[in-house]
Amino acid sequence: MSVAAATTDAAPMKKRPSGAGAYGRVRLTEHLQLRRRLGGSASPSLSLPPPLLLAPMERLGDAHFRGAIQHAITHIRGPDEMCTEFMRVPEKSSNFESAALALARSYDALELAKRDDDDRATDAATGTPLAFQIMGGDAEKLAHVARLLASPKKLAAAARIDEAEASPPPPRIDLNCGCPANLVTGKGAGSSLLRTPDVLHDIVRAMVNAATESANEDYVSDEAWAACAASFAPRVSTSEGIFDDAAIAEAVRSLPPPPRVPVSVKMRSGFDDTSLFVDNLLAAQEAGASFVTIHPRTKREGYKPEADWSLIAKARDVLHIPVVGNGDVTSLEDARRLLAETGADGIMIGRGAAIDPFVFQRVRSGLCGSDDIQTDAEEAEMLVQMLRWHVDSIARAQKNPDARKAQIARIDRMKLLGKFLLHDNANFRDNLLRQPSSEQPSADAFEQALVALLRSEWRSHRRTRQRRARVNTFSGDRGRGKA
Ligand SMILES: Cc1cc2nc3c(=O)[nH]c(=O)nc-3n(C[C@H](O)[C@H](O)[C@H](O)COP(=O)(O)O)c2cc1C
Repeated sequence: MSVAAATTDAAPMKKRPSGAGAYGRVRLTEHLQLRRRLGGSASPSLSLPPPLLLAPMERLGDAHFRGAIQHAITHIRGPDEMCTEFMRVPEKSSNFESAALALARSYDALELAKRDDDDRATDAATGTPLAFQIMGGDAEKLAHVARLLASPKKLAAAARIDEAEASPPPPRIDLNCGCPANLVTGKGAGSSLLRTPDVLHDIVRAMVNAATESANEDYVSDEAWAACAASFAPRVSTSEGIFDDAAIAEAVRSLPPPPRVPVSVKMRSGFDDTSLFVDNLLAAQEAGASFVTIHPRTKREGYKPEADWSLIAKARDVLHIPVVGNGDVTSLEDARRLLAETGADGIMIGRGAAIDPFVFQRVRSGLCGSDDIQTDAEEAEMLVQMLRWHVDSIARAQKNPDARKAQIARIDRMKLLGKFLLHDNANFRDNLLRQPSSEQPSADAFEQALVALLRSEWRSHRRTRQRRARVNTFSGDRGRGKA
């Protein structure tokens, strides 16, 4: 079914005002809505492939990781959108305004934009959009952060900075309803929100209202908003293979205008069990969430069992807003199966991107029927660049990068990356991983050894085989914070 046909079949929609959408790009929320209308076709000839999102991953997927992917990989094809790891909005704080302000200031919508030598964002439109994830249990406080994020004017006034220095609004604000850490759930945040659909509803509603009002106050006309959106909400991958840009543009024009700063919800399937799964889905939808992402394991399950994709299919049946499927996707085969089994409107990939940073390209190319995959040697070179960018980025953030402690921190990070990239490699395990970081001569020497290993050992064909092994290997790595 073509995009145009799909949209003509649908119920008549309010016409988008001229100006909005004139930026000629498809935002993630619109892309997901179009997919939703297309019926989640799993056919390889589908006219509109699903958007591919990088999952939020505390520590592993931090700004160093995202920057490295952006600089070394996205020129061939990266995720359509990345997301910050969760930022905690403290429930108890004597001065919550200043805590909220600190949080809002920690976000930079232009983090993944092209930059010049002086590190100024130059070409945001060719970068990757970066969503902002927050976590907390207090509706008022979460709404306050959403309000600041959606309005550079308010953020600048609160922070007493020039408006030009305040970040543009995020392409979306995501609410974390998945974090299983007891420290977090004990305070009513993360996955513990899944125990009380009413509270979840009120939090999402408060965030949606705050973000909408705030963005509307800043960008009073559609034209002002369109100009802002054009500067920070870049392309979604509608330019590959089968797409007809004119048909996409037409289809997008027929959609109701998306919220300026959409709020999405990322949830597990429940806390102790899945008995409230549907209530939570409906709570998020009724409160105005633009879409939900489902990681179908309960908090109690942690990462032990395989993700239960049938729950993604269930969410797709129950909801009319789009559903992004997440959990255990590490290859094109997994992505195809997820689409076929669930009809998901989008796919989110977390650990799979650390194991194989090319996974977004493999999935995109495979679904579009194109064949632009590079050789192992070319991939290894890109991984080397990625590693170097990552390690340099950490060194730049360290006060005294030459100090022994700082070097050990960089070695530890390289070990973490290697544990994913070279997880099945005995050479890495025996020679680089086992030896304590404090016994390594230097971060530079460790980096050279890892680079040599990547160049000699990287084999892309291995990536498709050991799905279970991979998921199991890393499921127990860090008990803290994983959502
Ligand atoms: C190291 C690590 C950190 C994570 N941090 C977050 C987080 O900050 N926010 C969140 O919503 N999920 C977080 N998650 C969960 C992932 O976003 C994702 O839902 C989960 O890993 C399942 O997807 P995957 O099989 O593609 O990795 C984290 C997962 C891992 C492995």
